[in-house]
Amino acid sequence: MLVCYLTDEPSKIPAIRALLEPHHHVVSGVLGDKVILGSDGVLMVDADLRVMARVEQIKETLSYLKAASEKLFVVQKHLHHMVAQAYALGATSVVRSTREISPKLAQIEAAAKASPATGGTVRSEIVDCARAFASMFSAINHDQSIDLSEAERATARVIAGIERDGLGAWLDDVRRYHEGTFQHCLLVTGIAVGFAIEIGFTDLDIKRLGMSATLHDIGKAKIPLSILDKPDRLNPDEDAIMKRHPAIGHELLKDMPEVSGEILDGVRHHHEYLDGTGYPDGLQAGHISDLVRLLTISDIFAALIESRPYRPPMSRQDAYKILCDMDGKLELPLVKAFRNVALVA
Ligand SMILES: [Fe+2]
Ligand SMILES: [Fe+2]
Repeated sequence: MLVCYLTDEPSKIPAIRALLEPHHHVVSGVLGDKVILGSDGVLMVDADLRVMARVEQIKETLSYLKAASEKLFVVQKHLHHMVAQAYALGATSVVRSTREISPKLAQIEAAAKASPATGGTVRSEIVDCARAFASMFSAINHDQSIDLSEAERATARVIAGIERDGLGAWLDDVRRYHEGTFQHCLLVTGIAVGFAIEIGFTDLDIKRLGMSATLHDIGKAKIPLSILDKPDRLNPDEDAIMKRHPAIGHELLKDMPEVSGEILDGVRHHHEYLDGTGYPDGLQAGHISDLVRLLTISDIFAALIESRPYRPPMSRQDAYKILCDMDGKLELPLVKAFRNVALVA
């Protein structure tokens, strides 16, 4: 595979060449160099995204490398919080250490071979949606207001993608290209939209549930990344912090006039259970709306089938079985209606 490696540190080039050249054809350059790359090559950007001048150079490079469909950003561990920045710049994949580069390239190459028609290209909806999530999360982190039109655009693109290619293709593509919170948000939105289509919602209601799903975990933008991206089980203190995200999300959105009550309800209550054992308000069944019930099922299913660096994704069959065993917490007739979404779509 052709890999075009662009860096702001020329001293890194020999090591990267030594690492990749046994398997790939590497073209290297210093950021700012003019490079040519077709749609079958991978652009790999390894630069300090904290430096504004670098960010501008990357934007310029990407503006004339539109044909490059794969854009892999290397964001070293200490620049963890720059992952969102990478996606905002148009990354299609992000790795956080040199060690992860070869496995990620192998994954990209395998995807290209598996779907020669598209060359394994990341579909534009996924790139756009990840960019919208990145931009909303980063606005919150900088105490700026969220641009809701980004959430609306992202939701509309998910709906269009699923109507065109089906939910199964969406789930596979998202899991192949994304990790962590963005992967989760993209999956939940896709699953919720697929669910709404399956049960015959009107276009307006599909949009409503889709928007709730897009925004449901927005409060996670305020949860420390050390907790959000922790590769192991959270300890009780960390779990308590994580469980604040629905109330935080509600707080972030509640004064925005364009956010409807239904969306706020979804953001605050998607972790409530019918038997009152959920959080943050311990609501009982009578206080949990239909929209929230659909969102909760979509959210749990997405969390179960997510791919994580440290474990393979659970099969859709096994994940659906877990939902069926949650009688009393989830509405069983809705879980039954979800069957086709979980197993067939
Ligand atoms: Fe959540
Ligand atoms: Fe969630």
